[in-house]
Amino acid sequence: MNKMIVSLLVALGLVGAVQAAGDPVAGQAKTIVCGACHGQDGNSPLANFPKLAGQGERYLLKQMQDIKSGARPVVEMTGMLEPLSDQDMVDVAAYYASQKISVGAADPALVDRGQALFRGGKLAEGMPACIGCHSPDGSGIAAAGYPHLGGQHADYIVKQLTAFREGERSNDGDSMIMRDIAAKLSNKDIQAISSYVQGLH
Ligand code: HEC
Ligand code: HEC
Repeated sequence: MNKMIVSLLVALGLVGAVQAAGDPVAGQAKTIVCGACHGQDGNSPLANFPKLAGQGERYLLKQMQDIKSGARPVVEMTGMLEPLSDQDMVDVAAYYASQKISVGAADPALVDRGQALFRGGKLAEGMPACIGCHSPDGSGIAAAGYPHLGGQHADYIVKQLTAFREGERSNDGDSMIMRDIAAKLSNKDIQAISSYVQGLH
């Protein structure tokens, strides 16, 4: 399904060619320091550190570039990407993309609300459904740079959606896709969606 959408978008010229291939083995060797927070295989053990395993290469590379340049400030990672060249980051992205993300559990009390928002959006307020870009199983569209969300820590998702809403995270481009969407989410919406996403696979 995703592959079909992607080939269609590529055919229409809406999505550029896939990133130059990275070398996952070379990439793994560059991730020793990252493992302390993100887990050696990219499945971070702590809820406020994002899982990187199974994330799309294009999205991973963009985030590393944004964190390195300061476009997305991450104080915990200050200076850590300095030693990595562009090719190193392409390789690191290939390594994490080749790993499998572990899936958590959703809070049963929040599933209905979370699922309704994730699948249906808020039509009355013009907020599109999340599945349009992050896909119904939460796997995203790797070639378009739309991130994989399914299985991600709920605490981390809460932090990101709140940061987009408050404008503290602003690296979603001139279209402000995520800032516009998060602006329509209440704290309770964010809790419910994030819990739902943590158990999604
Ligand atoms: C001291 C802990 C720590 C270490 C070590 C660390 N990171 Fe991070 N990283 C974080 C935190 C915290 C965030 C999320 C910050 C936020 O909430 O926006 C993050 C975010 C990221 C993201 C964005 C993930 C997403 O889903 O958007 C990537 C990619 C990343 N780190 C890669 C790396 C790489 C590669 C290394 C090693 C070179 C590394 N990190 C080392 C703490 C760390
Ligand atoms: C029109 C496409 C689109 C829609 C619809 C959309 N997103 Fe996104 N989302 C994106 C893109 C693109 C990014 C990556 C932005 C960047 O490059 O930093 C993103 C990033 C995110 C992130 C950050 C992931 C991470 O690892 O840090 C979260 C969380 C997220 N979206 C949740 C949602 C939720 C929840 C919804 C529905 C309420 C939604 N998105 C709807 C395109 C979309």
